[in-house]
This record gives sequence, structure tokens and C-alpha cells, in this order.
Amino acid sequence: MVSRNIPVGFIGLGNMGLPMAKNILKAGYPLTVWNRTVERAEHMARLGAKVSSNPAQLASETSVIITMLSGPSAVQEVVLGSASSPPPVIDGIGPGKVLVDMTTNLPRVSKMVADKICERGGDMLDAPVSGSVKPATEGTLTIMVGGRRETLDRVRPILETMGKKIFHVGGNGDGCSMKLALNMHLGALMASFSESFMFAVKAGLDPKVVLDVFNNTVLRTYISESKGQKIIDGDWSAAFSLGLMAKDLDLVSDTARQMRIPIPITSLVKELYYACVANGKENLDFSAVSTLLEQMGNVKISTR
Ligand SMILES: NC(=O)c1ccc[n+]([C@@H]2O[C@H](COP(=O)([O-])OP(=O)(O)OC[C@H]3O[C@@H](n4cnc5c(N)ncnc54)[C@H](OP(=O)(O)O)[C@@H]3O)[C@@H](O)[C@H]2O)c1
Repeated sequence: MVSRNIPVGFIGLGNMGLPMAKNILKAGYPLTVWNRTVERAEHMARLGAKVSSNPAQLASETSVIITMLSGPSAVQEVVLGSASSPPPVIDGIGPGKVLVDMTTNLPRVSKMVADKICERGGDMLDAPVSGSVKPATEGTLTIMVGGRRETLDRVRPILETMGKKIFHVGGNGDGCSMKLALNMHLGALMASFSESFMFAVKAGLDPKVVLDVFNNTVLRTYISESKGQKIIDGDWSAAFSLGLMAKDLDLVSDTARQMRIPIPITSLVKELYYACVANGKENLDFSAVSTLLEQMGNVKISTR
């Protein structure tokens, strides 16, 4: 029988964080939330969550603190603080408390933050997720966890409210490394699919036929199935924004440099996403990288 008495804190109620926090509340955990833009927290208050006035207060009143922020600089600001930030999480950390950072973060930053949390007697897990807003809403994310296995065992029932597949992949920072490996593949797959789609349409084929064939071959992928029709429809509403994909590829480059390995394919692909950012596409879905390839090939896949 799982105890639902553990007070949980959730920081970062963005596209992903909001549905994840809702699932924790729905499972019956007492939940306290904080978000930089306070209006986003008000929705959670109406559902029964307590809203904290700053991250330090949230951490002092809860046992398990979850962060779902945009990236490494946001995590450092919220957890460790900066000259202009509100009182940070670390000020509320003490023995027995666990910080679970579900942000797609840099492995080296995650390890550094974990050391500082441990110095205060707490513990930290990095637990980034695979899956977008739909799995976040349905509680079916895949979660990759780095940190101590005993700590994961303690918080596993809370993670199970957000994800059905939970992998312990290693020590602190290893969850982030796993997540970056997935996203470098995802970014390249999206760009490569867009290029071959553009090629076939330029050759004169009907986009609907091209997609139908893709989805009935060994090359049927998550990308062809979930993004192919959206490319045809010109639907760029963001589930995972192009700006976040560009950010993740920066984290991959940073980590690869630290390991002193070349990543030629990712380096090229990253430039395609930044060409989109430079053209104001940051807030569109990352599948909008296809519009750049359309432009380069002077061909229109989208029928809109
Ligand atoms: N979207 C996806 O499909 C997806 C899938 C897997 C993983 N991820 C990863 O999950 C994380 C969250 O993604 P998302 O799509 O939910 O992003 P998002 O909608 O942009 O939300 C980002 C959250 O971070 C907060 N934030 C950013 N900078 C901050 C700062 N300096 N101080 C305090 N709070 C700050 C934002 O607060 P405000 O409300 O004040 O802006 C917001 O709550 C990212 O690391 C992303 O790479 C996303």
C-alpha cells in the first residue's frame, strides 16, 4: 500500500510541468507549487494545490521537491539562486529531503547541483523525461533516472503518477546524458525525414502518397507517424518547441566537447534548428524545421 502522505513540491508549470503536477495532485499527494509567472500557479490553486511564495519556502514545507524548468540556467537560478532570483530551493533543503530535477539539463550542472544538495544533507535525482504534452497529460512518460537507487525507490510511487516506464540508468547526471542521447537522435531524425519528404515532393509526388508509403515501410517512425500529417497540414502548434530542441542540441555540443568527441551529424543538424530560430520560428513545434528544408529546396510540402 503506497502512502500518499508525503508532501510534494512542484516548480515549473510550463507545457510539461502543468499536466505532470496535475497527475501528482490527482493521485492524492498534498501538493505545493511555485512558478515564476504566478498566473500559471493559480490554475493549480483552483484544483486544490497550495501556492508557495518562493522556491525556498516550498522546499522547507515539502519532502520531495520536483523541478521541471526550461534548462540548466533556470535550474541553477531556482535551486542555487542568483543576485536577482527569489530565495532558492537550497535554502529550504535539509536532511531527508529529495530534489528530483526532471528538466532536460546538462549532466555537469546536474552533478554540481547534486553535490550542493548533498552538502545540506539532502539528496538529488536527475529524472528527465521522454514524451511530450500528451504522455505528460496521460501520465505515461518514460523517465530516465540518475542518482542513488535507494533514493529512487523512495520517490518511485510519486514518479509513477507521471510515467509508466522508469529506468535507473546510473549515478547523478546519467539521466541527463541518456536524455541528451535521445534528443540528438530525435533532432536528426526530424531533419532527415523533412529532407527526404521535400525531395520526394520536389520530384513531383503527392505529399499524401509519400507519407502513406513512409508509414508502410521499415522507415515508419514516431516522426513519420506523428509529424508527417502535421507537415502536410502546416500545423506548427508546439508540443515540443523548436527553441527547446535548439537548446538541447547546445547541451549535447557542450557535453560532447567535455568528453572530447566529435558529433558531426548533430553539429550540422543544430545549425538547421538555429536557422529556424533566426527566422522567428523558436516558438513553433520542432517539426517546423521542415519549413526551412522546403525553403532551401524551393518546394512546398504543406498543402495549406
Ligand atoms: N515540451 C516537450 O515536449 C518536452 C518533452 C520532454 C522534455 N522536455 C523538457 O522539459 C522541460 C520543460 O519543458 P516545457 O515544454 O514544459 O517548457 P516551457 O513550457 O517553456 O516551461 C518552462 C518552465 O520553466 C520556467 N522557467 C524558465 N526559466 C526560469 C527561470 N529563470 N526561473 C524560474 N522559472 C523559469 C517557466 O516559468 P514561466 O512560466 O515563468 O515562463 C516554465 O514554468 C525542458 O527542459 C524541456 O527540454 C520538454
